[in-house]
Amino acid sequence: MKTRITELFGIEHPIVQGGMHYVGFAEMAAAVSDAGGLGIITALTLKTPQALKAEIEKARGMTDKPLGVNLTFLPMLTQPDYPGLVRVIIDSGIKVVETAGRNPQAVLPALKEAGIKVVHKCTSVRHALKAQSIGCDAVSVDGFECAGHPGEDDIPNMILLPRAADELEIPMLASGGQADGRSLVASLALGADGINMGTRFMATKEAPVHDNVKQAILNATELDTKLIMRPLRNTERVLDNPAVQRVLDKERQLGEKLKIDDLLDEVAGVYPRVMQGGEVETGVWSCGMVAGLINDIPTCKELIDRIMSEARAIIAERLVGAIA
Ligand SMILES: Cc1cc2nc3c(=O)[nH]c(=O)nc-3n(C[C@H](O)[C@H](O)[C@H](O)COP(=O)(O)O)c2cc1C
Repeated sequence: MKTRITELFGIEHPIVQGGMHYVGFAEMAAAVSDAGGLGIITALTLKTPQALKAEIEKARGMTDKPLGVNLTFLPMLTQPDYPGLVRVIIDSGIKVVETAGRNPQAVLPALKEAGIKVVHKCTSVRHALKAQSIGCDAVSVDGFECAGHPGEDDIPNMILLPRAADELEIPMLASGGQADGRSLVASLALGADGINMGTRFMATKEAPVHDNVKQAILNATELDTKLIMRPLRNTERVLDNPAVQRVLDKERQLGEKLKIDDLLDEVAGVYPRVMQGGEVETGVWSCGMVAGLINDIPTCKELIDRIMSEARAIIAERLVGAIA
C-alpha cells in the first residue's frame, strides 16, 4: 500500500509503532521496522545520550530498515539532556523522529537540517495546525481512545480525524484505538495516511515486556481503562488496577488540593517494575481502550501482514462490492 506516510518515511506499510516508555527498546522497534512498518525507540527510557546511542546501534544490528526515535517533552523533576539526545539521533543516521508532549520547536532546526522527518503527536486540531506551522513534516493525531495522554478535550477519533484532515495539509497518522485491518481502512477513510499503534504492539512476541503485561492486555476489555490525573490537567489513560483505584481515591479525597506529589507512590518510577518485573498491579501504566480488540500475541510480522491483508480484503471485497 502506498500513502503519503509510506512515501515520507520510506516504509512498506503505513503502520507506525508509537514511542512507549519501557517498551520502545531495540527489540520492539527493530521487529516493527523489519516487518515493513516504522519502529520507534523511546529516548527518555534510555535516559542518557550514550545509552540511546547503544540502543540505536543494537536495533541497527537487528534490521537494516528505517528506524525512528521518540522524544517526549513532559514536565519533569529533572530535565533530560535533550541537546545530547538530538545529537545522538542525528549522528546515528535516524531518519524519523516522533515528538510528543510540549511544542517541539526547540529541536526542529537541528533535526530538519539533518534531513530528519519529524512527526509530532498531538491530541487536538489546534495543536496539529501549530505543528504544521512550525515545520513538522507530519502529525500523529491521538484520539480520546488512546493509551497514555489523550489531552483534555475528549474528542474521539471518529470526529477528531476528519476535523484534522479538513484543516491540515501535511500527512497524518491516526493514533489511538488502532488494532487491525478495519482500523486501518477506517482511518484512511477518515482522512489519515496511516496508523500509529501503541497498546496493540505491546501484545506481540517481540515486545520486551513481561508476559504478565501481555496477559493483562489480553484479559482486559474496552471497559477496563481509567483516566487519572485529570484534576492536574495531565490526564493519562491507564489499565485499571488497585494502584489506579488508590490514585482515584486520593483525587476524590484531596479535590482541588491535589498535587502530583500526592500520587508519586503509584505514578513515579513504576514502569521498570511493571514492564520488566511483571508486577502489573504495583503502579499505573498506560493502556488504550483498544485492549478490548486484542486477543492474541502474534509476532510483529504476523500482526502487520494480517492488518494489511485484512485491509486489502475490506477494500477490494466489502467496499468495492458495496458500490458495484
Ligand atoms: C505503555 C505505554 C507507554 C507509552 N509511553 C509513551 C511515551 O513515553 N511517549 C509518547 O509519546 N507516547 C507514549 N505512549 C503512547 C503511544 O505512543 C501511542 O500514542 C498510544 O499508545 C496510541 O494509543 P493505542 O494504545 O490505543 O494504540 C505510550 C503508550 C503505552 C501503551
